[in-house]
Amino acid sequence: MTIWLPSLSSQGTRYRSIAEAIADAVRRGELAPGQKLPPQRRLADRLGVTIGTVTRAYAEAERQGWVVARVGSGTYVREEDAGSSAAFLAGRSDAAAGTFDLSLSLPPPHPLRAQALGRVLAEIATDDAVLQRAVEYQSERGVPAHREQLAAWMTALGMPVEAEALLVTQGGQHGISLVLQTLARPGERIAADVLTYPGLIGAARQAHLKVLGVPMDEHGMDMQALGRLCAQQPPRLVYVTPDQNNPTGRLLGEDRREQLAQLARRHDFWILEDGVQYLPEAERGTPLYRLAPERTLFAFSTAKVLAGGLRIGALVAPPGPRERLGEALRAQSWMVPPLMVEAVCRWVSGEESRTLLTWQTEELGARQRLAREVLGGHPLGGRPHGANLWLPLPEGLRSAVLVDALAQRNVRVTSAEPFCVGSEPAPQALRLCLSAAASREALSQALEIVAELLAEPPAVPWQPL
Ligand SMILES: Cc1ncc(COP(=O)(O)O)c(C=O)c1O
Repeated sequence: MTIWLPSLSSQGTRYRSIAEAIADAVRRGELAPGQKLPPQRRLADRLGVTIGTVTRAYAEAERQGWVVARVGSGTYVREEDAGSSAAFLAGRSDAAAGTFDLSLSLPPPHPLRAQALGRVLAEIATDDAVLQRAVEYQSERGVPAHREQLAAWMTALGMPVEAEALLVTQGGQHGISLVLQTLARPGERIAADVLTYPGLIGAARQAHLKVLGVPMDEHGMDMQALGRLCAQQPPRLVYVTPDQNNPTGRLLGEDRREQLAQLARRHDFWILEDGVQYLPEAERGTPLYRLAPERTLFAFSTAKVLAGGLRIGALVAPPGPRERLGEALRAQSWMVPPLMVEAVCRWVSGEESRTLLTWQTEELGARQRLAREVLGGHPLGGRPHGANLWLPLPEGLRSAVLVDALAQRNVRVTSAEPFCVGSEPAPQALRLCLSAAASREALSQALEIVAELLAEPPAVPWQPL
């Protein structure tokens, strides 16, 4: 009888390669839910490894949530119930249908996300004290115990914060909007990189603020240009995503962080630091909220670490504006629902959130390397473990033409246009989001299509004009 055999990558330890191959096979549907994995001894013999290596690999795959071991029976691919893993299945069927979304910035799909949510909700459903707290109005800045837990979690992720400084928000976007509405008045100016997160542009528009674009180079925002801008048209606030500009992935240099803190003091502006796009600690620079704590607001969220639909974030604010931000939050919606915050706090306090984040970091690293293999030769931008890849197009190729041609081949990507501040010209480039694809294989197929069109650019459609 033939047995399922993993094809192993030559990199890394054997047990990890086997565990990774199991994960890939489940994501691709090659191993079906409920299917039994080969007996450990047989697989060890076929692969020429020790049985201990296979035992370790199966244990790792189980720890990551791909399989379950049944005592005396063997190891089986985890069965997903339709409700709890709908998003995961949807992503997989997307790939099967041949459509590839490289436009959405999501954490990479994994069944553990929906499963973890199911587990914490079931726990909450039997906890009377928590349920009682969830049906009552709470402080607008969040339940103190929740703020403590969120601050402890962020600190463990290498973002040391005090519970006292934290407001619970409905995601990072809410934190950004709150800051703009509270710290700037309609008609005032704020500044950001010329290419920036579109949610900032949208929030500024809602708050009737004018966004001025500051030029950037490979080390991020040009501080001399910001200095000149401050002398001519002083902004009320400067927004930065210092560890990974969205869309270019550029890292703001350490000296520039110091200069930004100095400029903020000299010209009396607020800094809004956005750390929503998660990166492992070793890949981040010094946070601005440490360099200029008295005038920096830091927006964080569970969206790119756990799941976007949870809508829970944390806004860290210096003492001055804290009260005002709380008032604004109360005026908008009284408070963030404590039930969801409880779910997040329970989730992040468990081992499974650490497992998921380790898996996710490794997965994004592998996806970045894969993109560099497939698109080698192009001057790509993006952090080693970031979700986004920035692809400046070769001379003569227009992004609108490529976006259309890719859409015809069912690959969705984003041009630079939505990231442009004001009427700044858009560079001919694409942002490819590597995280939303259901599997590395699906991503690879999509990237191959991008590579094909780059190698043989589509003709520009035209008609008699
Ligand atoms: C840089 C940046 N900030 C903020 C957000 C919004 O995060 P949330 O979904 O938590 O509102 C995003 C979402 O993609 C983002 O890329």
